[in-house]
Amino acid sequence: MSDRTYIDQACEQFRALLEEQLQRTEKMEAGSAPKDFASMDKITIGIIGGDGIGPIIMEQAERLLRKVMSDEIASGRIVLKKIEGLTIENRTALGKAVPDDVLAAIKSCDVLLKGPTTTPKGGTLESANVTLRRELDLYANVRPVQVPEEGIDWIFYRENTEGEYVLGSRGVEIPGKLSMDFKVTTEPGTRRIAKAAFDYAAANGKTSVTIVTKANIMKKTDGNFTRICHEVAADYPQIEADDWYIDIMTANLVNKDIRSNFQVFVLPNLYGDIITDEAAEIQGGVGTAGSANMGDRYAMFEAIHGSAPRMIEDGLGGYANPSSIFKAAEMMIRHIGFTDKADKLAAVLEECCEREKKVVVTGFPDGATCREFADYVMEKL
Ligand code: IPM
Ligand code: MG
Repeated sequence: MSDRTYIDQACEQFRALLEEQLQRTEKMEAGSAPKDFASMDKITIGIIGGDGIGPIIMEQAERLLRKVMSDEIASGRIVLKKIEGLTIENRTALGKAVPDDVLAAIKSCDVLLKGPTTTPKGGTLESANVTLRRELDLYANVRPVQVPEEGIDWIFYRENTEGEYVLGSRGVEIPGKLSMDFKVTTEPGTRRIAKAAFDYAAANGKTSVTIVTKANIMKKTDGNFTRICHEVAADYPQIEADDWYIDIMTANLVNKDIRSNFQVFVLPNLYGDIITDEAAEIQGGVGTAGSANMGDRYAMFEAIHGSAPRMIEDGLGGYANPSSIFKAAEMMIRHIGFTDKADKLAAVLEECCEREKKVVVTGFPDGATCREFADYVMEKL
């Protein structure tokens, strides 16, 4: 194919992408109302194993959930629904990031607890996470990180449905010469994540929200993200809004003199992805932080880390740390309205992970197994 043909095809593709993204913007502008769990007779929780260490940590997460919610499960108020088929083998065989029957089963649930799913590098198969976040419109990725002895109490509001991710599998290329990906920032998409962050800050007595971008370089997308966040901030005069660039913010997180001053962060998708792994590592490792993907109609809770295929290859799957998915389960229990149970589970997890630490998972045979750690947590409940 000649360069001219590539350019013509890319221009056509670009027009289609713009039209599609504009349509998405208009749909968002129509708005939607959040679910009221308190008024629901039955709440269906989808349980998705995932790949790699996913099924191993999810087996323990399901045991934990069955224990914490035993009364509600017995009464039928809570229903656990096992969803099979979201595995890398099945997804690659079908050439679908989320097979249709799996997506339909997922959409029949109210909330989801999900093990990590493997994302293929290159190729055209989209990440299952990205597909689910888009299909279920899970626009806020909420990731808390705490180091109590250092006074660190951070919460990240990562935009979860656009930015670098929404067209990440649909870039253009002139083979051997150049490639180009697209980043998308929309007005309503930014407004709703900013609002989520400021609402959280206002409801939880926080005094500042930190906006993180690279607006000096990504002038359109990040420039507008920053502007819109400041516009939203004007509705919250009691909360200070400051903005930083992502490069210096990654440095700030390892600067012990200032890092505990930050409270709530709001940031575009990719920066949020990267900095939350850094933050989780500061807390004690990516195996220790929970992650909530929130939308108005659905919410999906998961570990912050991936499927750790290397642990499986090395025969170490049984030593995977379930703390991250346990924290996700706690966030889910809180989200569906069982605050007391979530508080109790949070206190037990804090005791097991931060203070008593009688059973410690290291990821290797010198530490406890995933099941042993789960037993330790469950004994204390
Ligand atoms: C995360 C993960 C995902 C992401 C991957 C698995 C697609 O790293 O949830 O942070 O990049 O968002
Ligand atoms: Mg990540």
